[in-house]
Amino acid sequence: MIIRRYLPEYESAVIDLWRRCNLIRPQNNPKLDIERKLKVNPELFLVGLIDGKVVTSAIGGYEGHRGWVNYLGVDPAYRRQGLGRQMMEAVQKRLLAMGCTKINLQIRTDNLGALQFYEKIGYKIDEVVSMGKRLVND
Ligand SMILES: CC(C)(COP(=O)(O)OP(=O)(O)OC[C@H]1O[C@@H](n2cnc3c(N)ncnc32)[C@H](O)[C@@H]1OP(=O)(O)O)[C@@H](O)C(=O)NCCC(=O)NCCS
Repeated sequence: MIIRRYLPEYESAVIDLWRRCNLIRPQNNPKLDIERKLKVNPELFLVGLIDGKVVTSAIGGYEGHRGWVNYLGVDPAYRRQGLGRQMMEAVQKRLLAMGCTKINLQIRTDNLGALQFYEKIGYKIDEVVSMGKRLVND
């Protein structure tokens, strides 16, 4: 797999991947999410390609205190081959180089597969409650 920065030519493949990974929520407009991401830390928006095909994505972010990862998804046909781990390592490496000391994740409580995956690659549950306030409805 080749891991590289997102390019506009990948847009439809990435949105299709997110759909197949069940990562798109009614409140999230994927095109607008991509547009906004390209304005902040675009170098942390990564895709993984096999034979030129987008098979995985991850969006990292850093606000000077914590690093974040969103939209991690691996094409269902390519799972359990270590690609998710490789993508997380790629984001982690870039965040560390930016001075980030800890990565936070938000995972839906019913996403047991993702919870087990993250535990396998070294993440632990923090005893905190995640809260949010929507500022814009897409
Ligand atoms: C979660 C996801 C990214 C994992 O990708 P992947 O490429 O299959 O994961 P890897 O092959 O790198 O697995 C790394 C380790 O996690 C384990 N693992 C992966 N998926 C798992 C699952 N569903 N249940 C239990 N363990 C799992 C693997 O067995 C492996 O363990 P090992 O090191 O002992 O061999 C992928 O299942 C996915 O895209 N899910 C849908 C989208 C999603 O939920 N994203 C996260 C949003 S918070």
